[in-house]
Amino acid sequence: MRIETAHRDQLQQWEKDLEQQYQRICQHNLSLDLTRGKPAADQLSLSDSLDGILTGDYRAPDGTDTRNYGGLEGIAASRELGADILQVPFEEVLAGGNSSLTLMYHAVLTGYLFGFAGNQPWKDMSAPKFLCPVPGYDRHFTICEQLGITMDTVPMTATGPDMDVLEQKIREDDQIIGLWCVPKFSNPTGVTYDEDAVNRLAQLGKIANPGFRIFWDNAYAIHDLDHQVILPNIREAALSNDTADSVLQFASTSKVTHAGAGVAFVSASPANLASIKQQMSAMTIGPDKVNQLRHSRLFPELTQLKEHMQKHAEILRPKFACVLEHLDKNFADTDLGEWEKPQGGYFVSFNTRPGVASEVIRLSAEAGVKLTPAGATFPYGKDPENTNIRIAPSFPPLEELDTAMAVFTLCVKLATVREALANA
Ligand SMILES: Cc1ncc(COP(=O)(O)O)c(C=O)c1O
Repeated sequence: MRIETAHRDQLQQWEKDLEQQYQRICQHNLSLDLTRGKPAADQLSLSDSLDGILTGDYRAPDGTDTRNYGGLEGIAASRELGADILQVPFEEVLAGGNSSLTLMYHAVLTGYLFGFAGNQPWKDMSAPKFLCPVPGYDRHFTICEQLGITMDTVPMTATGPDMDVLEQKIREDDQIIGLWCVPKFSNPTGVTYDEDAVNRLAQLGKIANPGFRIFWDNAYAIHDLDHQVILPNIREAALSNDTADSVLQFASTSKVTHAGAGVAFVSASPANLASIKQQMSAMTIGPDKVNQLRHSRLFPELTQLKEHMQKHAEILRPKFACVLEHLDKNFADTDLGEWEKPQGGYFVSFNTRPGVASEVIRLSAEAGVKLTPAGATFPYGKDPENTNIRIAPSFPPLEELDTAMAVFTLCVKLATVREALANA
């Protein structure tokens, strides 16, 4: 199917055939969901031995009684786990509660209310602004929106954000004080930033406002599907450019152990970590160290963590393969859509022809397949080209995913053909 070169008669015939198939599918009363980027139950079960793992021994390896108050930075064993995941020294890691999103929210608040490392609080600037590579993660955008921080977009490429655009924006606007990045298996494109992108990002601290911070959300640091994909180390790149203060890194075990009961990490330069701890110390006496200890017992060394992630990969691999097979089979030789083949992470990002995504989502919903709302991957929910759809393969069982993808691909064809007819 090629839309660009199709004549009106051909488009009309396609519409008739597709409409018939669509009506047949609607009669099946499906109720399927491709929105949820969360682990499936069998993935969660991989970590069920967390329950009871302490067998009454609450002492951390350094002797800390984890049941008691204290230890704002988290127990050393947990900070070491975070250091292994982020490939940074453990002294620069704070291990927190169950959610890295919470840590990110608090880090933004720290910058906003107090400023990092002695810099001006963002709330005192005339128009503080974050740059958001798009498509991106909606919850990042919600944090900015809630605090009234303006967002501006930068296109994602196959190797990271478009660095020419990004650098130019930063040079021209000293009100830019933040940048959201999901550097490995990006949400939703699946892209991992390459060496050039990481090196150039590490140099932004030289041209940006001194209060500028990169929010390096490495949520999928160890979530490789087949082979290990290497993300260049931003801390090392920043250190060699004398910009270590410009980077804040985040990760968690949410998609490693139990998504709602894991351990989250923030890693930052000593000056930034001091700012974060100062803000946090008014808010809490310390994190859930008992849960941190459970995680350290489950993963005493990096080897156990890696073996565990292989088991996740085994469960996820057929699901990603299913999505990609449907896309290949239906769209490989067409001009109906584009997508990346992710090597890990939780998403496949599909771009329809301009102006078609919201109709695909509407048609799919009517046929019983729920997709992430149109625009969700853009700040303020506005996808200017109306093209991007995020597919989350992890949660549904394989058979449901297969049916949902058959509906999805049909809806892409029907919506595209109708759009072409409307404009023919
Ligand atoms: C890029 C990204 N960051 C953060 C999160 C949430 O992480 P956590 O569960 O640690 O708050 C997600 C969850 O989907 C995500 O995709």
